[in-house]
Amino acid sequence: MGDYSSLGDVAGKRVLVRSDLNVPLDGTPPAMRITDDGRIRASVPTIRALAEAGARVVVVAHLGRPKGAPDERYSLRPVAARLGELLGQDVAFASDTVGESAQSVVAGLADGQVAVLENVRFNPGETSKDDRERAAFADQLASLADAFVSDGFGVVHRKQASVYDVAQRLPHAMGALVATEVDVLRRLTEDPARPYVVVLGGSKVSDKLGVIDNLLGKADRLLIGGGMVFTFLAAQGHEVGKSLLEQDQLDICRSYLARAASTGVEILLPTDIVVDTTFPSGEATPHPRVVPATQIPADSLGLDIGPESAAAFAAALADARTVFWNGPMGVFEVDAFADGTRAVAEALTKVDGLSVVGGGDSAAAVRTLGFDEAAFGHISTGGGASLEYLEGKQLPGIQVLED
Ligand code: 3PG
Repeated sequence: MGDYSSLGDVAGKRVLVRSDLNVPLDGTPPAMRITDDGRIRASVPTIRALAEAGARVVVVAHLGRPKGAPDERYSLRPVAARLGELLGQDVAFASDTVGESAQSVVAGLADGQVAVLENVRFNPGETSKDDRERAAFADQLASLADAFVSDGFGVVHRKQASVYDVAQRLPHAMGALVATEVDVLRRLTEDPARPYVVVLGGSKVSDKLGVIDNLLGKADRLLIGGGMVFTFLAAQGHEVGKSLLEQDQLDICRSYLARAASTGVEILLPTDIVVDTTFPSGEATPHPRVVPATQIPADSLGLDIGPESAAAFAAALADARTVFWNGPMGVFEVDAFADGTRAVAEALTKVDGLSVVGGGDSAAAVRTLGFDEAAFGHISTGGGASLEYLEGKQLPGIQVLED
């Protein structure tokens, strides 16, 4: 549980809690459906603990990337409703961020009650790069509370008003979720039990450069799947057909392969790929075909690692004592291209040691594919945040709590 002792007795105090409630939604407003409520469930313990201690809890969070103005598609209203169900108590909802609605909802809270403010990114001050604009918005947020608890691990890598600036304006504490996440990530970076195996997927290698760079000096094995595979395959001189390819990353991929060879870090690339000639979306029927990774036909695009690669990845994970996995192996949302991701998830459940699923799409994948969350050592709520931590970067939302 989080240590809120630095805040004193929170009973009767208005406590602003920054949570990460950025969950995937389906449908069109007002009939939006939450497809994975993992982040909401992960946020409940801190909110509940504060409410049970008698605080008047004001939850501030974002959803998606609206452009600094209200946009019904990104409303937190359905998320607030789900939070209420999970907490088992009514949750008030403010239809703005710091305006009249927010002020009156917060003023109306009794001890132990909870409110959620509308998407904090509806205000341009939240994500502004201009320090003064962010500060002005942080002042308004801070005026709604007596104390601040930072519990949105998924956004601690963002220098944003509700993550960073507000902590400078109120007595603050680290929430239980952020404390747990940081503790697990520290175990990955400080003397991990070996073999330490890292599985990276997701679409773009350009999103993972920093982490690959850092892990080449730390991990024993690096397994690469997902869309980023094709840039590595192309870097080795293979044709990749219509698959995702980042031309401007070919040289860096070559340099990683060379560095791995010279430092003894094993990089495993898939040897077979599930391809299709069109990306199946909507009602279209997929026509998956397995081909050698070195012979992707010109008219095809790779959408998953093949069965031979899935077995090789599982074997490479079998003796691991520490595993970090970030990024799906393929388009797991479509059944025909989910087997690679399923195989990696399955292998992680068998790890005798610390297995960490690094947030974002991979966390959603293990739940969507029906795995029991308890079978993994830790499922992070932060995709980008956990990657930046592993890159060795200072995370502003953590740093500000330590200052
Ligand atoms: C995430 O989804 O990784 C977090 O909620 C952060 O969202 P952002 O990348 O839009 O800042």
